[in-house]
Amino acid sequence: MRTRVTDLLGIRHPILLGGMASGTDARLVAAVSRAGGLGILGASTLSPEAIEAEVALIRELTPMPFGVNLLLWSSAAKVETVLQLQPAVLSTAWGDPAPHVDAAHEVGALVVHMAHDVPTAVAAARAGVDLVVAQGHEGGGHVGLLSTFTLLPQVVDAVGDVPVVAAGGIADGRGLAAALALGAEGVLMGTRFLATREAPIPDGWKRAILDAGGQDTIYSPIIDLANEAPWPSPAAVRAIRNAFLERWLGKEEEVRRRGRELGQGLAAGRREDDREEMALMAGEAVGLINDLPSAGEVVERTVKEAEGILPQLAARASGRAAPKAER
Ligand SMILES: Cc1cc2nc3c(=O)[nH]c(=O)nc-3n(C[C@H](O)[C@H](O)[C@H](O)COP(=O)(O)O)c2cc1C
Repeated sequence: MRTRVTDLLGIRHPILLGGMASGTDARLVAAVSRAGGLGILGASTLSPEAIEAEVALIRELTPMPFGVNLLLWSSAAKVETVLQLQPAVLSTAWGDPAPHVDAAHEVGALVVHMAHDVPTAVAAARAGVDLVVAQGHEGGGHVGLLSTFTLLPQVVDAVGDVPVVAAGGIADGRGLAAALALGAEGVLMGTRFLATREAPIPDGWKRAILDAGGQDTIYSPIIDLANEAPWPSPAAVRAIRNAFLERWLGKEEEVRRRGRELGQGLAAGRREDDREEMALMAGEAVGLINDLPSAGEVVERTVKEAEGILPQLAARASGRAAPKAER
């Protein structure tokens, strides 16, 4: 499937892996890039040495292009380390990409910035980023307030010639086809790639994604308060409800007071693979996810499914009965 995004990034399929700091590693990134998408390493929580080691491992595993993601509100100081490694893409979110665009271009890296509203997307486009990701509220992890279905076409209209990729709530070829219809030229998926064999998250987290429906996710500040992480407004976290969240929802003040202790509890829950006591960050798309394929299989079948749907749309719109696309 060829779009301006595949041409720009030098990839075969317009599918990007979300640069999930707590959910990606070299193996997952390389698997997505090998399959023809763009793997993106979430590097915000890694030390400079660990970023170097992960990037070296990606390069051992695949010669294909990949990206490295940094959350600018917390990790802008690591931009230099990342650029020294000359990834194909510097992926950024939650902060101002403007100070980093020229430096990235000087080392031959493209800049992909994720925006949660139109002003953020327009500012990124004016700053010279090469690609804007419009990320909706349905998505997993930290998201803003607007839904993908309304945000995406507004961003497409607002950023002029800069290509746009859709994120938030996309987990299959139907989502890719819909994103293309709304003006995107590719998709970025997080939750779908967490439920893959390669994803470096505990098994309990993967099982929770398979078991949950979209109604089981909740958008709240509790996890950030527990982790004492002062994310910029309006970011809050979408995660699957579990015993930890049920216990603390509505008790923001107490969570704020006991932050350190509760954050340590979340870290222990993850170490011990206790799905009731860790932060199960995931989006509404959990309701679309029922299996644990390889990341490569996710890329391939998402594209195949979208390619089956696109020709059917014209037939459906003209009133000619078209069989359901093969899934
Ligand atoms: C566990 C998790 C961690 C994430 N960490 C980051 C991150 O460090 N940087 C970033 O730009 N986006 C991060 N995201 C957001 C993803 O890049 C992406 O926008 C989101 O997952 C898209 O929605 P989806 O989950 O419905 O596919 C994270 C998402 C999840 C689920």
